[in-house]
Amino acid sequence: MEIRGSNTVVIGGGSGIGRGIALALAEQGAQVLVADIELDAAERVAEEIAQRGARARAQHVDVTDSNSLSSLAESAFSHFGEIHVLSNNAGVVHLTPVLKASEADWSWVMSVNLQGIVNSCLAFAPALVEQTAPSHIVNTASMAALLGAAVPNLALYTASKHACLGYTDALRTELAPHGIGVSVLCPGMVRSNLANTSARNRPARFGGPLEEPKNAGAELEMMPAEECGRITVRAVAEGRFLIVTHPESRPLVEARYAAFLADYDAEVQARQTDSPS
Ligand SMILES: NC(=O)c1ccc[n+]([C@@H]2O[C@H](COP(=O)([O-])OP(=O)(O)OC[C@H]3O[C@@H](n4cnc5c(N)ncnc54)[C@H](O)[C@@H]3O)[C@@H](O)[C@H]2O)c1
Repeated sequence: MEIRGSNTVVIGGGSGIGRGIALALAEQGAQVLVADIELDAAERVAEEIAQRGARARAQHVDVTDSNSLSSLAESAFSHFGEIHVLSNNAGVVHLTPVLKASEADWSWVMSVNLQGIVNSCLAFAPALVEQTAPSHIVNTASMAALLGAAVPNLALYTASKHACLGYTDALRTELAPHGIGVSVLCPGMVRSNLANTSARNRPARFGGPLEEPKNAGAELEMMPAEECGRITVRAVAEGRFLIVTHPESRPLVEARYAAFLADYDAEVQARQTDSPS
């Protein structure tokens, strides 16, 4: 994927990793449409890009609303003609014990982290299939999709990110014949505003805004979002499917899959014990 001169859309681009991806795309010579539920945040990122001499614009979108995504796709294609990179990066986190999560909690997290990506692909992909230029979709999941819920209270997030990984893998298989590349971004800990943007943007139909945490994650060491953005854009340019930002977490992934394989071995062992000698 040639980033220089490309037309790109970053959804959830107003903050954190999305801002990092938008800046990195612009740095590599792309023009960027920054879309976010917080229009003022998207406008600030577009302004930041413009100040660095690249072209960017901002638009409001709410990924829990398929009409809002259709309007975004319509205006993006009418402005750009063709789109070459689409980043589906909007996401939310809601920490709660698995047995305390309400149906509304589940609906909200799945509406943003899974259905928002599905609906964005439904809005953009038909025109990407029709256009002559190749394109690339990058969906943001998480290391939670590869590691599971390593700590308590992450069930909603972990389930939604596993679903994102599964969906994106299927998307890759089905869009490849149409010249559309697909990646899944699985970041480790990246400095962002996720806890706060999640709390203040919960739509009324899922229970409305929550109280924002103070100094969420301030004490933790995290990768700067700009670095995560550069890693993502380089991997998209190389056409990689799985994009990881913290390769040092590889032993944890190996340990998870080793645990799965141990249960395969246990079944083989059980059959050998059962079988008449
Ligand atoms: N920060 C991390 O350590 C980390 C790690 C793994 C995965 N992620 C994922 O990265 C993505 C970006 O999160 P971030 O950490 O940069 O947080 P962030 O809060 O800084 O950015 C998320 C952006 O999504 C926007 N957004 C939220 N709901 C939306 C909606 N309904 N419609 C449109 N935009 C919406 C927010 O306004 C915000 O600008 C998320 O999918 C998150 O799950 C983050």
